[in-house]
Amino acid sequence: MDNGLPQREPDAELPDRVTIYEVGPRDGLQNEKSVVPAAVKAEFVRRLAAAGLETIETTSFVPPTWVPQLADASEVLAELGQVGLGRRRPVLVPNERGLDRALEAGVGAVAIFGSATETFARKNLNRTVAESIEMFAPVVTRARDAGVWVRAYVSMCFGDPWEGPVPVEQVVDVGTRLMDLGADQLSLGDTIGVGTTGQVRRLLDAFSARGVGPERIAVHFHDTYGQALANTLTALRHGVTVVDASTGGLGGCPYAKSATGNLATEDLVWALDGAGVTTGVDLAQLVKTSVWMAEHLGRPSPSRVVRALTGGD
Ligand code: HMG
Ligand code: MG
Repeated sequence: MDNGLPQREPDAELPDRVTIYEVGPRDGLQNEKSVVPAAVKAEFVRRLAAAGLETIETTSFVPPTWVPQLADASEVLAELGQVGLGRRRPVLVPNERGLDRALEAGVGAVAIFGSATETFARKNLNRTVAESIEMFAPVVTRARDAGVWVRAYVSMCFGDPWEGPVPVEQVVDVGTRLMDLGADQLSLGDTIGVGTTGQVRRLLDAFSARGVGPERIAVHFHDTYGQALANTLTALRHGVTVVDASTGGLGGCPYAKSATGNLATEDLVWALDGAGVTTGVDLAQLVKTSVWMAEHLGRPSPSRVVRALTGGD
């Protein structure tokens, strides 16, 4: 504890190793009021990689009118060179135009993003759920033909700000349809952070029953109600080994106002380090990166671990 690390006491119910899928440069920066310069975004990715994060979602190829914060996606990747490419550097693409731009930039991994609810599909993708799946189909086919790794997100897995509770079968239906397109991994998004541990278990069981087991699933929890870490540990006890997190706890969706920051990567690493789970991440270096980014954004990190380790209030 004195050295800035938790006391280690292995937890036999958790996996030996967890892959952290870092979303700070994308989910984090898409929701900031200020637009971060491309050079700073690229430096953020470099520092995250240097801190030991192997998988980093770097940006989004969506229309600049929809997410002006990430309008410089091509520039960020050009700045990054090799560090921004390969199967461990996914980018968000909603449609074929996004895929064209991503392939032109040389990416090796993309993520499509569907919604479990009609209202959020309409607000975030300007489509019905069915129309958005039709939009994704050629993206997945063409990406796979090009040898590109594909992740599929499903948002609003536990609750929707307009529709309220979301039936499990509805989430499983959209998730399995996205996987049937040919995606390699499914990330379950609690976009507005309302889910709790029993719901997590129930949803994972429901996916397993429909043939999508935990080895193909990642969890993506926003921390609006402080449940993200508890929900993540529940998923890990249920066989999941890929966890989305955002350094410094940045994050949110501009098309769902009640979405706040993601699970902070530092909070996750503290918990996993303590439980003897390998992540490959150097916590001290990660905290330094958060502090550096917070200076650029002009506001302190909401991460409890960052605040505790930097003496912030
Ligand atoms: P639309 O307005 O219906 O698009 O938006 P369109 O196909 O009618 O095209 C309109 C114009 O945009 C056209 O240009 C296209 O060429 C252009 P014009 O002919 O008028 O000059 N265009 C593009 N330009 C650049 N890149 C592109 C592109 N596509 C079209 N890719 C669309 C439909 C799906 C594009 C839009 O709704 C969209 O991009 N939505 C994404 C919004 C977004 O990024 N939200 C945040 C990410 S999701 C999230 O955060 C949740 C997640 O974290 C998981 C969780 O937490 O649950 C993943
Ligand atoms: Mg998100």
